[in-house]
Amino acid sequence: MRVGDLISVRDLEKNDIVFLFERAEAMEKIIGGGSGLLAEKVVATLFFEPSTRTRLSFQTSAQRLGAKVIDFGAGSGTSMAKGETLADTIRIVDGYADLLVIRHAVEGAARFAARIAEHPVVNAGDGGNQHPTQTILDLYTIKKLKKKIKGLNVFLVGDLKYGRVMRSLMYGLGMFEANVALVSPKGLEMDAEAVKEVRQKFGIEITETNEMSLNEADVLYVCRIQKERFTDVYEAERVQKEFRITKEQIEGCKEDMVILHPLPKIDEIDSSIDKSPHAKYFEQAKYGVPVRMAIISELLKKK
Ligand code: NCD
Repeated sequence: MRVGDLISVRDLEKNDIVFLFERAEAMEKIIGGGSGLLAEKVVATLFFEPSTRTRLSFQTSAQRLGAKVIDFGAGSGTSMAKGETLADTIRIVDGYADLLVIRHAVEGAARFAARIAEHPVVNAGDGGNQHPTQTILDLYTIKKLKKKIKGLNVFLVGDLKYGRVMRSLMYGLGMFEANVALVSPKGLEMDAEAVKEVRQKFGIEITETNEMSLNEADVLYVCRIQKERFTDVYEAERVQKEFRITKEQIEGCKEDMVILHPLPKIDEIDSSIDKSPHAKYFEQAKYGVPVRMAIISELLKKK
């Protein structure tokens, strides 16, 4: 990898991601076998927004490679509750750890942290902006399940306005030349500039609609309505109820269509679908570990 921090998929080239796929394949083989690759290293996780998968899979990944993990915990138990700034907090943790993983509600927070820290910084989500490690694991999952990415019809369904996962993934899909269909409720469309950038940069086909017609999909990538980023919570709940994937909705879909979701899912996918052969989101979540093992080890190798 050419970069010393992982802040945005826009900083990466296709080759970097293909290389990480290879490393993740290798990591899959050593999970459970024990590895001292990162013995003596300390990885810090700082999550200023809620997280289950991203935080725990980063911690698992570090530990499976023999590193130790320190966790910032809930902000209320730290000096940030006394008014310490993010900048000072980063400086301090940078003095304790060899790599910092950060999630923050403010767009650009990870880039800001990377400027301050001397050690590698990984963006685990900054507001509605970017979630690069999720994108790499999403692309890895698609490649695993469908054996290719190029030419697949990938439908991104849900809140495309506030979903950082969707914004990052659209860019990644552009890089790998998939055909992208953006399907969102009215008012929650993907940022027009981001769409334009991916179209121009990669020349891929991107369609946009507010209708749930999903029959042509090879991959249905669903995400929840990002309620916490709405100014009107009632509006968020209304949209969430109206935009759901049900068994009826996927009846006419391709037999080998797969449904992915970064999770957590609330009620945008009917729970009866969990048992269908289309549903691959739990498998997807598992790939978070080898992919993040690959990312951490590569970044630590550089410094
Ligand atoms: C996502 C996130 O935090 O952006 N979750 C995740 O990392 N797996 C998606 C979401 O919260 O909807």
